[in-house]
Amino acid sequence: MATGEELIAAAAAHIRAQSVGEGSGHDWWHVHRVWQNARLIARGEDVDPVVVELAALLHDIADWKFHDGDLDAGPRAARAWLLDAGAEPALADRVADIVGRVSYKGAGVPDDMPSLEGRVVQDADRLDAMGAIGIGRAFAYGGHAGRLMYDPDDPPVLHDTAEAYVSSSGATLNHFPEKLLLLRDRMHTATGRRIADERHAFMEAFVERFLDEWQGEA
Ligand code: ADP
Ligand code: NI
Repeated sequence: MATGEELIAAAAAHIRAQSVGEGSGHDWWHVHRVWQNARLIARGEDVDPVVVELAALLHDIADWKFHDGDLDAGPRAARAWLLDAGAEPALADRVADIVGRVSYKGAGVPDDMPSLEGRVVQDADRLDAMGAIGIGRAFAYGGHAGRLMYDPDDPPVLHDTAEAYVSSSGATLNHFPEKLLLLRDRMHTATGRRIADERHAFMEAFVERFLDEWQGEA
């Protein structure tokens, strides 16, 4: 059986090699940031750090390899990789369970993450969709998908019924009320919440300023 430290090093090397050239927002550096933030958040929680680190490293393992819609692809790939790398089956199961639950399923869909280790990883993943990095990722994603930055005929609805808001044009600025500005209130941990507060305020200021600049200087 491999030690936790060996598994973490092997997982980092595997994911890094697998994600070379990935341009849609799931590149190695996203995983690296989630990993580091998960370690930071975990310091304030009573968790198994090996489970946290492995789940953070493997959380997007299937995003490059499998088709959308196969919800089991991630946990299956994580479990298979861990067993192959010499992890105990119980550890592989705990990590795979988190990988299967981590992603955001929509504004109206409550989180279903029973383990504290999973909540740490979910907070870390969501922090990477917020703040300056989150803004950068949103526009990178929008460009990749051929979306407008902003559609004046379909402006974002802010400070209103955000939970029910769905953009018709899919312009990237609409992704803020649709998802990014909802993440703060879904943080699970004290550390995640503290960092999310700052990143949320930065995103709100960004959207306001973007709309001001769009109108032209007075
Ligand atoms: P993850 O797998 O990291 O949990 P997603 O796959 O949902 O997250 O999204 C990856 C990144 O792409 C995130 O930063 C997210 O905000 C961004 N993204 C997803 N959908 C959109 C969209 N419709 N417009 C702009 N950005 C998006
Ligand atoms: Ni992610």
